[in-house]
Amino acid sequence: MTNATIHTVTINKADIASGGMKSYKQDDDSIILITRDDDAFQAFDGKCPHAGADLGTGLRCGNRVVCPWHHATFDSRDGTLLEPIATEGLTQYEVTDNGDSLTVNTSAKIDKQIANDKLTDTHTLIVGGGAAGFMTAHQLRNTGYGGKITLISADDKAPYNRPLLSKAFLAGNMPEEKLLLGGADWASKYDINLLLNKTVSEILPNERTIVIKDKNGHSDRQTADFLVVATGAEPKIPPFKGAELDGVYTLRSMDDAKLIKAASHDQRVVIVGTGFIGMEVASALAQAGTTASITVIGQDHRVMGNIVSETVSNALIKLHEEKGIQFVFDASVTEIVEVKKADETSDSNFSQVGGIKLANGEQVDADIVILGTGVAPRIELFEEVNAPDGVQVDDHLQLRDGVYALGDIAKASGQMGRMRIEHWRVALQHGLVTAAAILNDDSVSSLAARIPFFWTMQYGKSLRYSGHAATPDHNILFGSPDTLNYIEYYFDDDGEDTRASAASTLGRDKELVAFSELLRRGHAPTRAQIHAGFNIIDQAQALSP
Ligand SMILES: Cc1cc2nc3c(=O)[nH]c(=O)nc-3n(C[C@H](O)[C@H](O)[C@H](O)COP(=O)(O)OP(=O)(O)OC[C@H]3O[C@@H](n4cnc5c(N)ncnc54)[C@H](O)[C@@H]3O)c2cc1C
Ligand code: FES
Repeated sequence: MTNATIHTVTINKADIASGGMKSYKQDDDSIILITRDDDAFQAFDGKCPHAGADLGTGLRCGNRVVCPWHHATFDSRDGTLLEPIATEGLTQYEVTDNGDSLTVNTSAKIDKQIANDKLTDTHTLIVGGGAAGFMTAHQLRNTGYGGKITLISADDKAPYNRPLLSKAFLAGNMPEEKLLLGGADWASKYDINLLLNKTVSEILPNERTIVIKDKNGHSDRQTADFLVVATGAEPKIPPFKGAELDGVYTLRSMDDAKLIKAASHDQRVVIVGTGFIGMEVASALAQAGTTASITVIGQDHRVMGNIVSETVSNALIKLHEEKGIQFVFDASVTEIVEVKKADETSDSNFSQVGGIKLANGEQVDADIVILGTGVAPRIELFEEVNAPDGVQVDDHLQLRDGVYALGDIAKASGQMGRMRIEHWRVALQHGLVTAAAILNDDSVSSLAARIPFFWTMQYGKSLRYSGHAATPDHNILFGSPDTLNYIEYYFDDDGEDTRASAASTLGRDKELVAFSELLRRGHAPTRAQIHAGFNIIDQAQALSP
């Protein structure tokens, strides 16, 4: 529990149905979660270890307790982590049976110390200190791996929370240290040999070997028993004239976020792109309240247009406009315009951004430009990649014996087919599955039993999305996007018997969890079932383990 106060709580057994769960909020805001199966009761810290949601407001489906916010999932019998976005299982307490009631004392924690005695004479080498690399190392240690782990990263910082860069960090609500995954002492605490500021220049997959060249051309080769590559993605810069000017930014790293924060004070900011990065940057800068103006330029009249329907997009546009964001839609950027400014410290001039020129001849004035124009996977280390835009791996993220490619670079086969997905939770999921593959633990599901999930946060409102749909335009919408309370189901076509392949929501979290669990099990509702009044929560709860 986050708060150290000890609680002794007595719970009436009859309040919890078999197969169910219930949470009990304490005066200090801590939460105790009880799960029940026949006469077996278990007690846990009921605050999700990811960001503190009350797990009792999520859903229990068979043995799975699913968090309502970002779908971290725990085993109802012992709190084991089954799905990220959390990176730890639940703290479990001993339960005293008094007959008709139970007593839980939160000082009586069940010891879950891990022995770390598996594969002790092996070496796992991880390239990439992002979500996927971090989670592989973390989960290996949390599930008993006792070998050597080396994590090599081109970053100068230990693994950190990238999604928060375009949310609380850019908005100025979160200090840098809070972004570090697992805390400041993560590497030493988990016995990870963390090598920062090192760029791997070559990979020899057949030999499970990497090469690092230093500035003087000296090569360092390292060979391991298991090689995990998770080099992520980098922003695409469209071939506009002027894209190299001072004042043009992209956002991928903490340093990028710091530069944007510092440069945007009192400036006219123009964001190119209406995907989730563009919209989150607009929201975070609006919340920071330090810019002169914020304008977003979009190619058509939609925001997050490949994710949500036009109706939901219109509601999001309205939300942004209410916060002072201006939009220029149906606009095609042809050039970032340069202005010459006098350098006050010398007699010379320097060039920087002055505006954006559009195909219709209009110009949007700008002091800084932020490009939110998509990312490309960093796959150059795999010369043999057999897909144009990703490394083809199996549902255990394996490329060949002992070599794994994961996160944003992986074109992995999974429950929904073969695809490459650029989401934080998916990258963590890949790390968890890879750790199990290294440990040869077949009790952990591969990607064949997992589905994608992502969320975006704008003005404190979380839009969440489960599954994968090629387009949001074959959809059924319930609720009212304008009041930020809706759920929308997406289909591959308009057939009545076609099952939904994705859904998004604002404000209807439990329904989205239910949908995700049904989708995962191949029981997503058809159009006909939805029209007939399918009760999605009842159906999901009826799922057996
Ligand atoms: C600002 C921002 C906000 C986001 N918000 C969300 C969100 O709200 N929800 C969501 O689902 N997703 C979000 N994402 C996407 C998510 O962060 C990515 O999908 C995820 O980080 C991918 O993880 P990864 O481990 O594959 O790669 P990364 O996290 O990109 O990590 C790659 C790592 O590899 C290292 N590296 C690269 N090349 C080399 C090399 N040659 N040698 C050594 N190291 C190397 C890099 O330095 C880095 O440490 C966001 C992304 C950004 C940039
Ligand atoms: S708060 Fe539970 S998954 Fe984020």
